[in-house]
Amino acid sequence: MDFKTVAVVGLGYIGLPTAVAIATRGIDVIGVDVNASTIDSVNRGEVPFAEPDLAVAVSGAVAQGHLTAQKEMPEADVFILAVPTPFAEDHRADLSYVRAAAEAVAPVLKGGEVVILESTSPPGHHETAELVAGAPASESEVPDRRSGSTRRLRGSLPRAGASRPDHDRDGHQ
Ligand SMILES: NC(=O)c1ccc[n+]([C@@H]2O[C@H](COP(=O)([O-])OP(=O)(O)OC[C@H]3O[C@@H](n4cnc5c(N)ncnc54)[C@H](O)[C@@H]3O)[C@@H](O)[C@H]2O)c1
Repeated sequence: MDFKTVAVVGLGYIGLPTAVAIATRGIDVIGVDVNASTIDSVNRGEVPFAEPDLAVAVSGAVAQGHLTAQKEMPEADVFILAVPTPFAEDHRADLSYVRAAAEAVAPVLKGGEVVILESTSPPGHHETAELVAGAPASESEVPDRRSGSTRRLRGSLPRAGASRPDHDRDGHQ
């Protein structure tokens, strides 16, 4: 599949360096964040937090037009979710940010896109894949990946991707 546009959702310590690394390959990256000040900083080519050596790469990617930031969820070929998953009071992961991001991505999907959950998530986490795929995990193509291997989502693995069950990998129905 030819990836022309990547949306990185959450421009924090993980999302922004990821966005920049892809943008510096010449791929158009749209960063999405709920924080207006983060969006403004990135669009000025600035890093909104302390991260040595990232500033040059961000300003370059923005200057070349390969990295922009916005609040609205765009259409894209690939979506990378890098929103927070803090611990809740009961020591479980607070997945509300992931849920909000998945619910924002789902309406813009046409079929054939790749959605990657980069946020730390607990073993057996199905909900994000189900929200973006619009189908139960058991009916969707939702491999998890750990240590370079690919397994079905029902394995207890930390990183999940999903695609629509009615489309093949190239987006064909
Ligand atoms: N920081 C690390 O070293 C590290 C390492 C491995 C994994 N992780 C995981 O990566 C994920 C992100 O961590 P981080 O350190 O980048 O977090 P962060 O707090 O630095 O950044 C998260 C960004 O997401 C934005 N955001 C929150 N809700 C959003 C939404 N609904 N839509 C769009 N943007 C939204 C926030 O405004 C913020 O800019 C977490 O799950 C974390 O556990 C982090």
